[in-house]
Amino acid sequence: MASYDIAVIPGDGTGPEVIREGVKVLKAASSKFGVDFKFVEYPYGAEHYLKTGETLPDSAIQEFKEFDAIYLGAVGDPRVKPGILERGLLLKLRFDLDLYVNLRPATLYEGVWTPLKDKTHEHINFVVIRENTEGLYIGAGGFHFKGTKQEVAIQEMVCTRFGTERIIRYAFEYTRKYGREKKLTFVGKTNVLTYAHDLWARVFEEVSKEYPDVKTDYAHVDATCMWMVKNPEWFDVIVTDNMFGDIITDLAAIIQGGLGVAAGANINPNGVSMFEPMGGSAPKYAGKNVINPIAAIEAGRLMLWFLGEEEAAKAIQDAVKKTVKMMKSMNAGQMGYTTQEVGDLVVKHLLES
Ligand code: IPM
Ligand code: MN
Repeated sequence: MASYDIAVIPGDGTGPEVIREGVKVLKAASSKFGVDFKFVEYPYGAEHYLKTGETLPDSAIQEFKEFDAIYLGAVGDPRVKPGILERGLLLKLRFDLDLYVNLRPATLYEGVWTPLKDKTHEHINFVVIRENTEGLYIGAGGFHFKGTKQEVAIQEMVCTRFGTERIIRYAFEYTRKYGREKKLTFVGKTNVLTYAHDLWARVFEEVSKEYPDVKTDYAHVDATCMWMVKNPEWFDVIVTDNMFGDIITDLAAIIQGGLGVAAGANINPNGVSMFEPMGGSAPKYAGKNVINPIAAIEAGRLMLWFLGEEEAAKAIQDAVKKTVKMMKSMNAGQMGYTTQEVGDLVVKHLLES
């Protein structure tokens, strides 16, 4: 029997509640499909930071490397200044574990509400592959003359050939294997980012030659925002840089039903990877048993898929599809069920399948 060691960081706000449901579903999948999980919980997040001053120690990064995957709830708390937990925990995980692929599927399941008036599950089914370790996120730059009228703030965008090539290559491989139409769109801003995205465009073109079976396309990021609303069915797989990927995946999340359902995989193909619901810690709903756990369950599903347990992953997805059809809404407090009941429904559908 395959056995996996999973590091769990429930985190802040509603993180622990949704992760509890995710773990429940994974345990049900474990009994049904004969995969075993050993979960080890870590306390990192706002509470731990406020108590100890520590966000994520280097020793934890070393420990995580011994696991098969990391399952993260959410980080963020109004008592902690913006940037501290983001940089000190979430981005530290992404950078220090070299999780260079941020894979975010946007699939509208049948029966789930979308703000797009004329679109259904037949139209919204694409994946965004976001570069996750470079670009504007690396934190290079600084202030000059801070606080004066002459103040200069510089935030540098760094794209390396190595980093650009590996994400584009991953996107081509993914599209070849899983693409609905085997079509990969590079989303950038080549008309303005004439250095950074010139490099991207050249590498994209170069790597594409090795994948004659994959259709390629290019769209400016601003136009992408428009097309994603007007014709989301045009997209199959998108590859883009860190900042643009951050922005367009919130748009992608809302058209698939919102942060209650959207999940992402932070992947290091040669190391340990991390799986997370995309919604934040939603502190105002914490402890109320009203938050939607589907996104966390979907993150668990992506984890199984990544670990190679494709049959179990598919079964969870089918159980999620049945469950969301029964829910009144994907929004916290309007689901027609409690957080726990939604988790129970997914388990029930999974065990019945
Ligand atoms: C995301 C989040 C993070 C990001 C924040 C919390 C640092 O918005 O995962 O998309 O910008 O990557
Ligand atoms: Mn984001």
